[in-house]
Amino acid sequence: MIGANTLQEFVVARQAEFAGATGDLSRLLTDIGTAAKMVNRHINRAGLSGILGAHQSNGNGSTNVQGEAQQKLDVYADDTFTRVLQSCLKVGGIVSEEQPGIIHVDHSKRGEGRGYGKYVVCIDPLDGSSNIDVNISVGTIFGIHRRRSPLTGPATAEDFLQPAKDLVAAGYVLYGSSTMLVYSTGCGVHGFTYDPSIGEFFLSHPDMKFPEKIKVYSINDAYINRAIPGVKDYIKSCRSEGLTARYTGALVADFHRNLIQGGVYMYPGTVAKPGGKLRMLYEAQPLAFLADQAGGVTRCHHHDLLHVQPTELHQRTPLFTGHAGAMARLQDAIEQAAVRQPM
Ligand code: AHG
Ligand code: MN
Ligand code: MN
Repeated sequence: MIGANTLQEFVVARQAEFAGATGDLSRLLTDIGTAAKMVNRHINRAGLSGILGAHQSNGNGSTNVQGEAQQKLDVYADDTFTRVLQSCLKVGGIVSEEQPGIIHVDHSKRGEGRGYGKYVVCIDPLDGSSNIDVNISVGTIFGIHRRRSPLTGPATAEDFLQPAKDLVAAGYVLYGSSTMLVYSTGCGVHGFTYDPSIGEFFLSHPDMKFPEKIKVYSINDAYINRAIPGVKDYIKSCRSEGLTARYTGALVADFHRNLIQGGVYMYPGTVAKPGGKLRMLYEAQPLAFLADQAGGVTRCHHHDLLHVQPTELHQRTPLFTGHAGAMARLQDAIEQAAVRQPM
């Protein structure tokens, strides 16, 4: 049931929960909502406006910094989010999946004595972009850190390379059967559904929590036999308990379904790719922050991901996330396998 709270009203009302809040984070979150509306409009028209398929640069398909093929909508979403974030005075720098280094934001060039914003944003502008051409859900993931370097100069890598536990806010947008924005500032996880006829996000899922009873396990079946020991044992136990398998290939969609219906998401490292595929700063960390707020736990093989100190902007990590109870069983299976067969 959709209530009367718009995203903006809710964010501003909740800002009072922080001692000394200035409204800067509220402004940033509502700007992310605005960019999400722009991307949502483009996604909904994708089949009509010639923006399906691979992005071309000089007659060839383009790739991002990680060598992955870029879709036209990857590039559009990246342009839109980075443009909106760069115009937000609270932002001092951005790291995007689609761009190699830090995007520095220097407001002093805009005059009026403005300098560098106090927040940095890590963003996956379009998650699951290979789903676009086949009309399956995609998303956006973001994490916001308070800068550690002096605000008198540009943002530095140390501003971005902070553990997930130190995020000040994180969230995602899911462009699905309806469009939702889900975020947390560390006071619960709240979900908003977009009403396209009004052009607003309305609070629809206050205080989201992982159900204790899980129904679903989510993993790319092709990796089960290549995953680290223990993952397969855990999946066997899921199957014997009658759980069902669901995996869309868009992390946001899989995480969101598991948050609502109860499930565990697994993207393990393999022998060939020990670090897995998912990116630490703009995929794993924001979801780990949300999961923690929703009664969940997130791990990367042997560690609690919330406390892991990242070392590179585009670093990859294995990712296991879901309700704390289910995650404890997965961890047990991995630890028991390691005792049987030390790596
Ligand atoms: P992105 O489109 O941002 O590169 O992310 C794709 C990710 C993630 O959304 C999804 O869970 C995973 O890739 C799927 O990878 P596999 O095809 O290897 O399962
Ligand atoms: Mn992604
Ligand atoms: Mn992406």
